[in-house]
Amino acid sequence: MIFETHCHLDDKRFAADREEVVARLRQQGIGAVLNVGYDLESSVRSVKLAQEHAEFYAAVGVHPHDAAGMSEDGWEHLEQLAASPKVVALGEMGLDYYRDLSPRPVQQQAFAFQLELANKLNLPVIIHNRDAHQDTIRLLQAHVPARGGVLHCFSGSWETARLALDLGLYISFAGPLTYRNAVNLQQVAVRVPLDRLLVETDSPYLTPEPWRGRRNEPAYVRYVVEKLAEIRSMDVEELAAQTAANGARLFGIEL
Ligand code: NI
Repeated sequence: MIFETHCHLDDKRFAADREEVVARLRQQGIGAVLNVGYDLESSVRSVKLAQEHAEFYAAVGVHPHDAAGMSEDGWEHLEQLAASPKVVALGEMGLDYYRDLSPRPVQQQAFAFQLELANKLNLPVIIHNRDAHQDTIRLLQAHVPARGGVLHCFSGSWETARLALDLGLYISFAGPLTYRNAVNLQQVAVRVPLDRLLVETDSPYLTPEPWRGRRNEPAYVRYVVEKLAEIRSMDVEELAAQTAANGARLFGIEL
């Protein structure tokens, strides 16, 4: 059993064949899927997907790219959405200094606000961090997630991972772990304690090898599991079971 902890199956790139994609993930032994919102509309769609599919759960949140578009009413709406059935986390939230689609002070404000909201609502958090390692850790240290959380699609150094682990956070790996030039990332993945590891696709983005360049989908999380098992010299099914148990613990789901 695999727990796919981060995808965007509500994306319009799945409009034509969404139910076929769901059928394929079931064939791959994926027993739980967390669909993650990045703005209000995608959060609404994530909640809907979770209501329509037994193994789907939802996270609601505002990505740093979309932080500048939020109004006071929007934040209130997000808080209401978080009370919907099968919402198990707040996110994705965080900082993205690679694309800088929202001004950095606005990204930081939205991130801090959502970290506080998660603590108020007693929910874990899903964190996006791209080229913003120092500020991400600084804000996490200032607003420690009481229910824990995950650095999703991890792309940092061991030092960043260690600081996150010290805060009780989990580390999640996605398709880039399978890329040929991912030596440094693989070295980090070997060192993360087994009980803090999660797997994900972040589909439709970041397609793993051997399908890099195509649209990604949750069924391909198996390639991430296989790569992680290979570099940690573990049995594939054992690694799948352990990461699924970790996800169930973090998100409060019974598998
Ligand atoms: Ni994502």
